[in-house]
Amino acid sequence: MTAQGRATPPGSPVLAGAPELRPARRRPGQLFGRAPRFPWSIPERAFVEPVVRQWTPFGALFLVNDPQLARDVLIAGQTDFPKAPVELDVFAALLGTGLLSLEGPAWRAHRRSLQPFFDVRATAQADALIADRVQELMTGWDRAGPGTPVAFHEAATHLALAVVVSRTFLTDGASIAGSVLEALSRVPKLMSMSALDAVPVIKEHRSQRRARQIGAAFADLTARIDDLIARRRATDSWPDDLASFLATRARNETGAPFNPAEIRGEIITALVAGHDTTASALTWAIYLLATHPAECARLEAELDETCAGRVPEAADLPRLIHTRAVVEETLRLFPPAPRLALRIAAAATQLGGHTVRRGDLIQILPWTLHRSAAIWGDPLRFRPDRFLPGSAMPVPRGAYMPFGAGPHVCIGQLTAMRQLQLILAAVCGRYRPELVGSSEIDISYNIILHPSGGLPVRLMPRRT
Ligand code: HEM
Repeated sequence: MTAQGRATPPGSPVLAGAPELRPARRRPGQLFGRAPRFPWSIPERAFVEPVVRQWTPFGALFLVNDPQLARDVLIAGQTDFPKAPVELDVFAALLGTGLLSLEGPAWRAHRRSLQPFFDVRATAQADALIADRVQELMTGWDRAGPGTPVAFHEAATHLALAVVVSRTFLTDGASIAGSVLEALSRVPKLMSMSALDAVPVIKEHRSQRRARQIGAAFADLTARIDDLIARRRATDSWPDDLASFLATRARNETGAPFNPAEIRGEIITALVAGHDTTASALTWAIYLLATHPAECARLEAELDETCAGRVPEAADLPRLIHTRAVVEETLRLFPPAPRLALRIAAAATQLGGHTVRRGDLIQILPWTLHRSAAIWGDPLRFRPDRFLPGSAMPVPRGAYMPFGAGPHVCIGQLTAMRQLQLILAAVCGRYRPELVGSSEIDISYNIILHPSGGLPVRLMPRRT
């Protein structure tokens, strides 16, 4: 289900007036060409109406685009609107037993166990790792020569993966990153949810094939993870990282230590969920800055004043206010996870004047919420100042959810925000990005929103 769409820079001064000259193309999902295709079509009215009811092969589905209703659904999640089994099954096939594939008491126990690893203090321990990795990357770019085209999405993917691998296996994970990328490149198209998953016999057949193919794709990664944990057990050596945390401190819903499948499932979940999303956000940020020179200059002014050419450190974060706003506005226009997992109504209820029956499905899309003209002024324009303290355009509660909301809110949110600010500040402190080729790029969606074609850019040195 890799679907293609087309992006041109929203409200770009480079293409000054272009959106206005093409009113027919200013539909909110589009920026301004075809929107990414989700498993079900998203009608234009889903961007303006609070609740839109649709029929899908899975039954009735309600697209919820009202901030308060969306929050209500997500916050009541565990009892009234749990994640739908069809969605959990897809994640279980891909990632095994982990937070993204669990619900109910098992999910609660895992979440409670893992939370301390992702709190502010633990997250801050990764700052030095991030600085080292980004420095390595920039050294490589400098060596290649100024202005050499860089496939930015690929570079961002390697960087984000290197960071999450180091947090997971501090000392002994050198071989893991390659194995993650190899496994993901072999994940079949079958992985994506499709209408066929609603057809009884075909559904079982697809599910078995999916399990077989994904099992084969992940065999090497699984073996490496199990081997690393076994070696740590044999030597009783536990570096301060996620793998040790899971193997020694985590408890499941029975109060027992995590079993091997639970340890492995949470490791694969963190490795996969923790790098693709971050890499997508970084890449879209570079795209938006490259196509909005005035915003890029505003960011550079903050970086010059705060860091004066050096790689930023944790102590700089409170002053990187504009950098944070750029990240937040990027996550609004291009939420890496533009579609939250389906929720299912546990009982009949009312939703925005609609009668919802038990078993009906609820879909919340940051994609539509973040582009709704009813919520945002000038929603298709890239305006980081929306997120600056004291902004005249306050963000309504529930209107902005790149990390979801409620009990299933992204556990890596703090980690991701910190990492995005530090990396963006380091890269834009040193280079000005210029797109290679057209500023119209294709959008692809396969659970995560990516720019197709890898976003080739020239990173022009700002200081000599
Ligand atoms: C820009 C980066 C990221 C974005 C936009 C993002 C987005 C999201 C969203 C929207 C959800 C909620 C899904 C739903 O409710 O259906 C989620 C959940 C999750 N994310 Fe992230 N994520 C990011 C980074 C990370 C990182 C760095 C990690 C871990 C290292 C991570 C791990 C997870 C996990 C485990 C869950 C499931 C939480 C639960 O159900 O308890 N994510 N993420």
